[in-house]
Amino acid sequence: MRVLRLSELKPVLLKIGGSVITDKSGELAARTKDMSRLVEEIQEANVQNLIIVHGGGSFGHPVAQQYAIKEGFKEESQKIGFAETHHVMTVLNGLFMDALIWRNVPAVSITPSSCIITKKGRIQLFEENPLKTLLKIGFLPVMYGDAVFDTELGFTILSGDQLVSYIATRFNAERIIIGVDVDGLYDADPKVEKTAKMFRHLTLAELKTLQNKFGEPTACDVTGGMFGKIAELMPAIEQGIPATIVNATKPNYIYNALKGEKVEGTLIEKE
Ligand code: IPE
Repeated sequence: MRVLRLSELKPVLLKIGGSVITDKSGELAARTKDMSRLVEEIQEANVQNLIIVHGGGSFGHPVAQQYAIKEGFKEESQKIGFAETHHVMTVLNGLFMDALIWRNVPAVSITPSSCIITKKGRIQLFEENPLKTLLKIGFLPVMYGDAVFDTELGFTILSGDQLVSYIATRFNAERIIIGVDVDGLYDADPKVEKTAKMFRHLTLAELKTLQNKFGEPTACDVTGGMFGKIAELMPAIEQGIPATIVNATKPNYIYNALKGEKVEGTLIEKE
């Protein structure tokens, strides 16, 4: 049995957006077919040291929004909302884990609310030993956006995107892949504006300019819309870790991205 040293890890971070594995127009609407297809692609690509983080979509967001969980603990009535948000995330995670394990992928999930504490919404403490151990033995760790405890707010919402960026930076990842339900990063919502233009390559400086212009949160997304999400990746990109945004709803895009092959999408690099 070979156990990897930490310096050998160089993980690849894959974020699967909640809009890919759930139907965001519904409530608690899982896209199980897309989940199985993605799992097949992940299994086929067989990337070493992969870490998956998935989003909340129509599981985490509606209930988090209903109880204003991100804003913190202000009244007793939110407690059931925190419990429910966390619970529905474990349900979604369970469905995804089912798909992975059913296909013989040795995936193990780590619950963010049990090993992460934030301060005003930013990760302050992350007990990373379980994650390191999973990687060293060669498991596929899976984490997700979650309702977490916060030293100032009592509790809040941690997005999968902040988590991806944090892990990538801490573990000096090789690269980041962000799977979404559109072809890449656009200057407007491509689902609404037919003339929206997609960026194929962005430098960090360009991303910063765009973020100031477009970084407004959208209606049913408590964690900040597309630009807000991508802005989370800045510290990792600053560290020289490239991030590719690809359409995970299209067959084989995630497979190709995982294999490091050329794939339509937006590549963001430091320079
Ligand atoms: C949100 O995570 C988690 C909760 C709302 C509990 P993300 O912000 O990463 O989810 P998506 O990808 O936008 O759905």
